[in-house]
Amino acid sequence: MARIALVTGGTRGIGAAISVGLKNAGRHVIATYAGNEAAAASFSKETGIETVRFDAGDYDQCATAVAAVAANHGPVEILVNNAGITRDTTIAKMSRDMWDAVIDTNLGSCFNLSKSCFDGMRAGKFGRIVNIGSINGQAGQYGQVNYAAAKSGIHGFTKALAQEGARFGITVNAIAPGYVDTEMVRAVPADVLEKIIARIPRGRLGTAEDIARGVVFLTSDNADFITGSTLSINGGQHMY
Ligand code: CAA
Repeated sequence: MARIALVTGGTRGIGAAISVGLKNAGRHVIATYAGNEAAAASFSKETGIETVRFDAGDYDQCATAVAAVAANHGPVEILVNNAGITRDTTIAKMSRDMWDAVIDTNLGSCFNLSKSCFDGMRAGKFGRIVNIGSINGQAGQYGQVNYAAAKSGIHGFTKALAQEGARFGITVNAIAPGYVDTEMVRAVPADVLEKIIARIPRGRLGTAEDIARGVVFLTSDNADFITGSTLSINGGQHMY
């Protein structure tokens, strides 16, 4: 039986490439999305991947959605906490809402989904959790105190949960993408982005597939001895 994989924010950007990569690796993938119906519908039509709508930052919605997946398909065995948003600005201009939205969606979602899936993984003595962090959680980034804090939190969350999951066959790892050619990065002002690209030793933005290949590897049965690690995929921009 194909293992059940849940990818949050799995219909667009890096998440869409992860969903497709896992499907191509033989997983039964369910991709979640928060609100962009049109994108989810065209993703599903193109890939044949089932999509489910809920807010990953909302604990009750996560618990309900994971229970529904378990009832329909079986327990989630592979969880990719990918959902993420930006609300970039300097702290002087950042509102409390901009802080909360990013912390809830990017970091709170890791708790919500991991907790909702953990018992099922433990019962099956197998689990793969991959949390998508960021180079900006490792190095910080001007204009991103909210995002850097959330992503940095993901790296701590990963190492703590890895210790709890190990004896149940549950591995927990993070991937720290650098600047990847997605809508999120294209929202960075062009002059700022140009300077960022100039600092990437590989001389280009990443592709969503560059990140997806890492997720496919870390969620494979063969990656059983890798847990609590962070895989940086950033073209050499930050060596951590
Ligand atoms: N270092 C030092 N100073 C900087 C700076 C930097 N990196 N960036 C901007 N400044 C300075 C500006 O020069 C300006 O100075 P002056 O007032 O003296 O001219 C001052 O900061 C304020 O700049 P702005 O008026 O432009 O402020 P703003 O609020 O309109 O915009 C910003 C600031 C939001 C940070 C904007 O520069 C920006 O979007 N930067 C890019 C942020 C970024 O990299 N986001 C990543 C998004 S992608 C992602 O997050 C995915 C991932 O995981 C990698």
